[in-house]
Amino acid sequence: MLPLLAAITFLFTGLAHAAVTWTAAPFNPASVPLAVRTPYLSAWLPQGSGTALNANWPTFWTGQIVGWAGYVRVDGTAYSFLGTPGTNTPTQKAVQKSFEFTSTQSTFVLTAGPVDITVNFLSPVEPNNLVQQSLPFSYLSVTAAPNDGKSHSVQVYTDISAEWISGDLTLTATWNTTTTGDIITHQVQLQNQQAFTENRDRIQQGSAFYSIQNAQGTTFQSGEDQVVRSLFVSQGSLNNTQDTNFRAVQDRWPVFGLSRDLGSISSTSSPVVFSIGHVRDPAVQYIVANGALQERSTFFWTKFSSVQDLISSFLPAYSSALSRAKAFDAQDSSGAFNASDVLLFMKEISSDGNVNTVDVIFPSWPLFLYTNPTLGKQLLLPLFEYQATGQYPNKWSVHDMGANYPKALGHNDGKDEPMPVEESGNMLIMTLSYTQRTNDKSLVTTYFDLLDQWTQFLITDSLIPANQISTDDFAGSLANQTNLAIKGIIGIKAMSEIAALVGDNARASNYSSIASSYVSQWQNFATSSDKKHLTLSYGDDSSWGLSYNLYADKLLGTNIFPSSVFEMQTAWYSTVANSFGVPLDTRHTYTKSDWEIWTSALVTSATVRNLLISSVRKYAEDGKSSQPLGDWYETTDGSVEGFRARPVVGGHLALLALSRSALATTTNGEQNTSSSAGPVSTVDNTTSQGSGTSHTTAIASITISSFLLSTVLTTFMYY
Ligand SMILES: *[C@@H]1O[C@H](CO)[C@@H](O)[C@H](O)[C@H]1NC(C)=O
Ligand SMILES: *[C@@H]1O[C@H](CO)[C@@H](O)[C@H](O)[C@H]1NC(C)=O
Ligand SMILES: *[C@@H]1O[C@H](CO)[C@@H](O)[C@H](O)[C@H]1NC(C)=O
Ligand SMILES: *[C@@H]1O[C@H](CO)[C@@H](O)[C@H](O)[C@H]1NC(C)=O
Ligand SMILES: *[C@@H]1O[C@H](CO)[C@@H](O)[C@H](O)[C@H]1NC(C)=O
Ligand SMILES: *[C@@H]1O[C@H](CO)[C@@H](O)[C@H](O)[C@H]1NC(C)=O
Ligand SMILES: *[C@@H]1O[C@H](CO)[C@@H](O)[C@H](O)[C@H]1NC(C)=O
Repeated sequence: MLPLLAAITFLFTGLAHAAVTWTAAPFNPASVPLAVRTPYLSAWLPQGSGTALNANWPTFWTGQIVGWAGYVRVDGTAYSFLGTPGTNTPTQKAVQKSFEFTSTQSTFVLTAGPVDITVNFLSPVEPNNLVQQSLPFSYLSVTAAPNDGKSHSVQVYTDISAEWISGDLTLTATWNTTTTGDIITHQVQLQNQQAFTENRDRIQQGSAFYSIQNAQGTTFQSGEDQVVRSLFVSQGSLNNTQDTNFRAVQDRWPVFGLSRDLGSISSTSSPVVFSIGHVRDPAVQYIVANGALQERSTFFWTKFSSVQDLISSFLPAYSSALSRAKAFDAQDSSGAFNASDVLLFMKEISSDGNVNTVDVIFPSWPLFLYTNPTLGKQLLLPLFEYQATGQYPNKWSVHDMGANYPKALGHNDGKDEPMPVEESGNMLIMTLSYTQRTNDKSLVTTYFDLLDQWTQFLITDSLIPANQISTDDFAGSLANQTNLAIKGIIGIKAMSEIAALVGDNARASNYSSIASSYVSQWQNFATSSDKKHLTLSYGDDSSWGLSYNLYADKLLGTNIFPSSVFEMQTAWYSTVANSFGVPLDTRHTYTKSDWEIWTSALVTSATVRNLLISSVRKYAEDGKSSQPLGDWYETTDGSVEGFRARPVVGGHLALLALSRSALATTTNGEQNTSSSAGPVSTVDNTTSQGSGTSHTTAIASITISSFLLSTVLTTFMYY
C-alpha cells in the first residue's frame, strides 16, 4: 500500500519534493499537525515543500512560533531533533529519515549518530467518548534504538517556551513546577488574564501544562532558553531548579525543560512520554433566556476535580490512547453516546472567529455523520436553544452564535452576517439528516415550530432568491443564485419529511408538492439556453458554478432533482476543469476543497469524480504553502487563498458520509448503486476498478481530511 501511494505522490509532485531526503507517507502536507486539540492548543510544523522536524520552529495555526525544542544526547554528543534551538555549546542536527501521518498521529524517525529516534505526536480523536474528547491535551513520545547493534548512553530533552500562552510576547508570564504523585508538571500562564478574550487568535486566559512521569533519571528546570538547553547539552541532565524571575515571554526567553536519562541502551528503549495541554476555565460565555449569560466549563470537569488529576490520568495512558488512535486511524469508528445536555461550541477558525457558524457546520457535516452524528446535534443545539428563546428577531435562521469565539452571545439585534436562504436551508437539511441517521426525533419534535418558520421563509424566498450572499461570501452577493435555490428547495422538502416523521401528513404533502413544483420552475430558470449546464444565476447563460448543494438531495435520499440535472452537470465539469480542479464559479478561478469533494460525491461518472478528488489531493501536497491545509485555493496553479485550518475540511468526508443506508432510501432508481459511477461502490470497494487510480485518490481524500479531524472535532467540547 505505502509504496503505491509513495509512487503516486512522486508522480503528482515531480520536482517540488526533489529536496526531500526522507520517505513520506502518504505525502508531505503543507503543515504537519503536532499538538492540535482546541483553537488554542494548535501547534504545527510548517513544511512547505518539505521541512524536517528540526529545520523549523513549530507554529500556532496563524504562523506564530510556539517554542518547542528537543535534543537527544548520544554518548555525550547532543543532536537537535525538534525546533531550531541554539545553545552556547555546539550541537549536531539529527537527520530525518522518514515521516508518516495518520488521522491522529504524526511520526518522524531521525538518525542521531549511532541511534535512531522515533518521535510520535499523538492528538487523540475520541468521538465516542466525550470526556476523552474534551481533554485539551496531546502527547509527544520519543523512543531511541541503536542503529549499529551496539550499546549507547542516551538522554532525551524537550522544552516549551511561554509562547504557548500568548501571541503578545511583551506580556509577563508566571510559572511554577510541581511534582504531584509521580508526575512533574510545568505550569505557565499570563500574569494578567482576561476571560473570554483573544489577542491574535490566542486566548488571554488559562495555563499551559507540560508534564512527564518522574521515572528514574528524570530531571526538570525552568530558566532562560540558552542556559537550560546548554546545561542539558553539556551534562545530559537538568538541575531540578526553578527560575522565579517572572518576566515577559520574550525577555531572556523562559523555557520549561524536562529530561530523562535512559542510561545505556542496547535495544529499543521504552518511550519517553510528555504531555502538553492548554486549559482555561470557564471556557465559553453563552446567552440564555432574557439576555442572561452563563459561563460554561469544559466537559472533562464532570470527571476530574483538578488539572493535576486530569494529567495523572492522561499521561500514563499514552499506550492505551495510542491503541485507540490506531483503531480510529483504521476507520473503525461507530456508535453513539448519550449526553443530551451537552452543547458544543466551535470556532470558525481563520475566516472570522464566529461561534457555531451554521454555514461552517454545514460543509463539515459529513465528518459528524461519519464519526458520530450526535456531535452534529450538539453543535446545532445552541442555535436551536437560542432561537427558541425568541431573542433573535429575524424570521430566518441566525448565521452564528456570536461574532467572537468564545463568546456565544447571540445576535439580539438581528444584525448577524445575513445569509437567510443559506442558513435556513442548512438547518433544515442538517436536522433531517441527523434524525435519519439516529432515529432520535428530539430535535424535530422540540423545535418543530422554528423549523416550520424557516420553511415558510424558504417557501417565499428560495425559488427566486433575492440579492444576497451565500456561504461563499468572499465571492460576493448575487440575485437568483441557482445553487442557493437548490438548497432552499431541498430545505422545503426536508421539512416535508420532518412533518411526516411527527405525523403531520397534511403539511408533509403540502410542502412536498411545493418543493416539486419549485423544482420544475427552477429547471426553467436555471438551465442555460443551450441546455449544457446550470447557470450561476438565472438568465446568465455564460455563467456556471459548482452546484454542490445537490449533494443534500443524495444525502437525504429526497431525490427531487431529476437525474438529468446530475448528468448534465457531470458532463459540464469535465469540460471546465483547470489543472487543480473545477473553479467555484465563473466569477473567479479559485475553488473550495470542501465543495470540490462534495461535488465529487454527486457526479454520475467515476472519471469526473476522480478528477475532482485527485485535484484536491494534488493541491494538498503541492508544497506551495506551509500553512495548515486551507480549503480555499486557486485552480490554475494550486496556490492557497488564505483560509487555513478551518473546520469546513470535514467536508472531505462527503463520499464516506453517503452510506448505504442513506442510499437504501433512494427508491426512484436515480442512484444506480451497482454502477461504477455510484459513490458507495467506489469508496467501499477495496479492490476498486480499472487502474486503481480511483481507489488511491479516494484513500488520499480520506487521509487528507482525517489528519485534520483533530482540529475539527476538538474545538468545542463544553457543557
Ligand atoms: C502554581 O501556579 C498556579 C497558577 O498560579 C497556582 O494555582 C498553583 O497553586 C501553583 N502551585 C504551587 C505549588 O505553588
Ligand atoms: C547546575 O548545578 C550545578 C551544580 O550545583 C551548578 O554548578 C550549575 O551552575 C547549575 N547550572 C544551572 C544552569 O542551573
Ligand atoms: C438519553 O438521555 C436522556 C436524558 O437523560 C433520556 O431522556 C433519553 O431517554 C436517553 N436516550 C437514550 C437513547 O438512552
Ligand atoms: C430573478 O429571476 C426571475 C425569474 O427569471 C426574474 O423574474 C427576476 O427579474 C430575476 N431577478 C433579478 C434581480 O435578476
Ligand atoms: C401550504 O403551505 C403554504 C405555505 O405555508 C400555505 O400558504 C398554504 O395555504 C398551504 N396549503 C395547504 C393546502 O395547506
Ligand atoms: C447500473 O450500472 C451498471 C454498471 O454501469 C450497468 O451495467 C447497469 O445496467 C445499470 N443499471 C441500471 C438499472 O441502469
Ligand atoms: C469491486 O470492484 C471489483 C473490480 O472492479 C468488482 O469485481 C467487484 O464486484 C466490486 N465489488 C463491489 C462490492 O462492488
